Amino acid sequence: MMRAALRRFSALPLRRLGDKRWHSSANDDGFDATSSSKAQPTLISEAIDGFSVFPQELPTRARDPSRDDFINDATSPPRTREQQMEFDKHESLRDWLGRQSRKRSVDEIVVLTGNMHRGSEILHNAVYNKGTGFNHSERERLGVRGLVPPRFFSIEQQAEKIWQQQVVMRESNAPKIARWRHLQALKDRNETLFYRLLQTHVEELAPVIYTPTVGEACLNYSRFFRRARGMFFTKDDVGHMHSMTYNWRGDVKIVVVTDGSRVLGLGDLGAHGMGISIGKLDLYVAGGGFDPQEVLPVCLDVGTNNKSLLNDKWYFGLNSQRLEGGDYYRVIDEFMRAIRHRWPNALIQFEDFQTKHALEILTNYRNDYLCFNDDIQGTAAVVLAGVYGALKVLGGKERSEIRKQKFVMCGAGSAGMGIVAMLHKAVVKSGGLSEEEAYDNFYIMDNNGLITNERKLEFPREAAVEPFAKARKATKELPDGASLLDVVTKSKCTALLGASTVNGLFTEDVLRQMGEQNERPIIFPLSNPTSNAECTSEEAAKATDGRAVFSSGSPFEDAKGAVSGRLMRANQGNNLYIFPGLGLGALLSGAKTISEEMLVSSAKAISDMLTEDQIRRGCIFPLIKEIRNISARVAVRVIKQAAEEGQAKRSVVAIIESDDEHDTKLYKYVKRAQYVPEYRPTVFPVEEIRRTVDDY
Ligand code: NAI
Repeated sequence: MMRAALRRFSALPLRRLGDKRWHSSANDDGFDATSSSKAQPTLISEAIDGFSVFPQELPTRARDPSRDDFINDATSPPRTREQQMEFDKHESLRDWLGRQSRKRSVDEIVVLTGNMHRGSEILHNAVYNKGTGFNHSERERLGVRGLVPPRFFSIEQQAEKIWQQQVVMRESNAPKIARWRHLQALKDRNETLFYRLLQTHVEELAPVIYTPTVGEACLNYSRFFRRARGMFFTKDDVGHMHSMTYNWRGDVKIVVVTDGSRVLGLGDLGAHGMGISIGKLDLYVAGGGFDPQEVLPVCLDVGTNNKSLLNDKWYFGLNSQRLEGGDYYRVIDEFMRAIRHRWPNALIQFEDFQTKHALEILTNYRNDYLCFNDDIQGTAAVVLAGVYGALKVLGGKERSEIRKQKFVMCGAGSAGMGIVAMLHKAVVKSGGLSEEEAYDNFYIMDNNGLITNERKLEFPREAAVEPFAKARKATKELPDGASLLDVVTKSKCTALLGASTVNGLFTEDVLRQMGEQNERPIIFPLSNPTSNAECTSEEAAKATDGRAVFSSGSPFEDAKGAVSGRLMRANQGNNLYIFPGLGLGALLSGAKTISEEMLVSSAKAISDMLTEDQIRRGCIFPLIKEIRNISARVAVRVIKQAAEEGQAKRSVVAIIESDDEHDTKLYKYVKRAQYVPEYRPTVFPVEEIRRTVDDY
């Protein structure tokens, strides 16, 4: 009975305080009174794990019983010479004491590690800290009184203050990286406030937290490293990954994992890829409403082939060449199994893996794990949403009009081929063409020009290209390797897409040709970061006199046509439209895998949100500042799709069955599940807790 009450109790707002130990040790101090061996609630000390400094000397923590199968694993002697050397680097407490300038007592050590004052621990814990946002009784009960300035500020006021600092930085043209660091510092002090700010100003801050600025941060990530976040798994951790997952503090709903091999088109950044996993998850929290306590950023450090990193004495990753072949896939496989064992329902999102591995990894796991690759599938879905949106701007009433589009795709990598595969599917499903007929709507180009049936493809790397290559017969007019200008001119294409990483690939001639052969040419330079984009919005607007339906991977400003001055809307085909809602929907539905149809449903949900006014102004995506609602709408479609596939749990199916045509109940269900960054009350009168627990 008591257990059940406690379990239910953990769902109350106090849950944000994290650890059950919070509830169990406090007594008349306003916390829970279930059991108490200590008079003072010194529990945060334990929760933040102050013992880790001297693991050999201090008492070990109680073991998680579910960890027993891995105890041997965890305590086994180091396996390699390298690991042995790493282990030897830990100095003993005795050595440490010997190095101190004065004699220190054991009590001092304990104070340093385990029993710090509650108030200052709270203030220095970014999860619990509210700064000047602690109210009077919290200050009193939590021991914060006097440790923060006297005046109380609400989270809205605090967020406004920090936002003004960001505005000053923007207006004084401070480097974007300075703004990124300013926000990271906030996250290190006060996570709730960080997410509040990010959620409120997501349109302006997403490019600071994520692409393009995060690319710059990743280039120098070892130098920017201030505070441990997420988990690194390396090749030396093979055989230990299961037990390592228990070093993570709690439940995990979503993992973003990269091997840092192709970060945002910046190439191999090795362990610096961690920055991308962290940034992406910040957007899952702000845009989708994932609880920041339930996300796990991961970097698989399998070495790097980046010479400048290997020669950099401050590089914090493994100083070795990238693993390849079976050794590489062994790391991936053990990681996947470790995550599933520890958090069986977690969603795993692959991020920035180089093409040659990305497709294979996705193929290996997509049918058995709840996982997806955002570069391949997320990008494809957002481009499809953009194409559906563009059809509306072109005056199309039906999605079936996609059959009339002729696409030239520049780039046959993971992003390019993921996009093409999904567009092809849409031409078949929405457009009503046969698979064979639909291939004719696509021209694929790589660094050697047009790909035709005469091209020698490398397998398995280019397997996705094969059906398109086979169907595109080389002709005298358009031989294998034909140039982009020739392909655009002779194919009479209506849509020009770029995922090539080649800046300036869409030359003025190419763009002008697109403008000449189409009233409203669709031009999507999708490569990131901005410096890799195939063209800028200004170039597209100038060459087409503002008639282009434009969408890019990185943000650009709206631009005017050179002759008429017509304003061309610079849309951003940001994956943010898709991944938070897709992830949320998949998790809430209880699905075991992510199907192609869920991605297509996400794309439809997005274009369905466009208003008449937006369409008139050339918008092909809804406003990003609406991202919370967009994600909720996407999640609704994904859940319904999961139900259609028989993947949804019974409780969700029941909601769908009793719902109206607008999915009102399901939408409410999703909205209720979204995390809202607000300060939760931390101090309750004991009586109130008892009452709530009893009533619950
Ligand atoms: P990748 O390096 O695997 O592929 C690049 C492809 O471009 C290769 O097939 C290459 O042969 C081709 N290419 C190179 N030069 C070319 C040329 N002159 N003409 C035509 N094709 C050429 O890269 P991946 O992973 O496919 O990513 C490509 C780009 O897409 C990156 O910049 C990435 O940032 C971007 N991307 C954009 C997203 C978005 O807009 N939402 C999401 C994911 C990726």
